[in-house]
Amino acid sequence: MQHVDVDKTARAALKHQKPCVLWFTGLSGAGKSTVANLVEKKLHAQGYHTYLLDGDNVRHGLNKDLGFTEADRVENIRRVAEVAKLMVDAGLIVITAFISPFRAERQMARSLVAEDEFLEVFIDTPLEVAEGRDAKGLYKKARRGELKNFTGIDSPYEAPEAPDVRINTVTMSADEAATYLVLELQRRGGLGD
Ligand code: ADX
Repeated sequence: MQHVDVDKTARAALKHQKPCVLWFTGLSGAGKSTVANLVEKKLHAQGYHTYLLDGDNVRHGLNKDLGFTEADRVENIRRVAEVAKLMVDAGLIVITAFISPFRAERQMARSLVAEDEFLEVFIDTPLEVAEGRDAKGLYKKARRGELKNFTGIDSPYEAPEAPDVRINTVTMSADEAATYLVLELQRRGGLGD
């Protein structure tokens, strides 16, 4: 790679922070976007430079050519992981909120940044609970067979075996979960000064 004078360290130093990726994973309706949004809000309020990547800003733009087959999800996550890597290089604290159902792709995302720059956050909500919420009515559609390849119904979700952080959304409110996560990040020295 061509040498650049302004590198990751220089960009991060100007922001007085340590860049990283908070990689959320969990079922549809688990609460990923809700918690991710609150985490970004709390970090932003503390003066950190952040960016939230989720379906709303990625699947309607960069990845609008992709659907929900296994191959398309793999490509969705590959592109998100590469964008997250670039954003870490830009010195940002990046939060990603995608189902990211496959272990191999989450491992690939981790491998793109340094060991201490990646935190896998499992938004651990049982299928019955996520399906019970069904905020977008998609589980109902999937059960009726009107939506194919739906995660947890007829498309697999490989739960993390050893996530860096596990959030139980049944026992914790979204706000408690976000507070816990920010504290956990601080405890691990993840934010810098
Ligand atoms: S991923 O599997 O490729 O990581 P992603 O997080 O981008 O998925 O998108 C998931 C969101 O898309 C869900 O929360 C839901 O709103 C919507 N969606 C539409 N079709 C499906 C489907 N077949 N399976 C899962 N989610 C779907």
